[in-house]
Amino acid sequence: MTDAAPSVSLFDRFGRREGISALVEEFYRRVEADPPIRAVYPDDLEPGKQKLKLFLEQWLGGEPVYSERYGHPRLRRRHFPFVIDERAAGLWLKHMRQAMDARGIAAEDASAVFERLAPLARHMVNANEDVPREPLGDARLQ
Ligand code: HEM
Repeated sequence: MTDAAPSVSLFDRFGRREGISALVEEFYRRVEADPPIRAVYPDDLEPGKQKLKLFLEQWLGGEPVYSERYGHPRLRRRHFPFVIDERAAGLWLKHMRQAMDARGIAAEDASAVFERLAPLARHMVNANEDVPREPLGDARLQ
C-alpha cells in the first residue's frame, strides 16, 4: 500500500465544467429572486453569469479561459461599477452556499471553498469608498 492515491481536484469535485455551470445557474436563480441583491446587478444577468462560470472554473483548477479572454481577474477593481455593501456580500455568500447545497456538493468541499470565498466577498465591499464607478464591460485588465 502506498498513500499515493491520485488526488482529485476541487474542479473535479465540483463536477468540472458542467457542474460549475449548473452551480452558477442555481446561484443566479437565487440572486434573481432576492430583491436586495438583485438590485446590485444589471438588468441583463447573462454576461456576468457566463463570466462567473469561467472564473470559477479557473479558480477551482480548470482551464484559465477567463484570463485568456479578460486578462487578470482583478476582481475588486471589476466590481467598482457596482455598489456592494456588507449586506450584499452576506447575501452573495448565503446564495452561493445554498446553491452548493442544492447541487449536492459535499460539505467538506463546500467548506474548503468557503474558507477562500468568504474573505474574497468581504474584500469586494466598496459601498462607502470613493472608487471609479464607470462600467468596465469586457475590458482586458493587466
Ligand atoms: C460580495 C458580493 C458580490 C456581489 C454583490 C457581486 C456582484 C457582481 C456584479 C453586480 C457583477 C457584474 C455582473 C455583470 O457585469 O453583468 C459581478 C461580476 C463578477 N463577479 Fe461578483 N459579486 C460579489 C462577489 C463576488 C465574488 C466573491 C466573486 C469570486 C468568486 C465574484 C466574481 C465575479 C466575476 C468573475 C464577475 C465578472 C467580472 C467581469 O469579468 O466583468 N463576485 N459581481
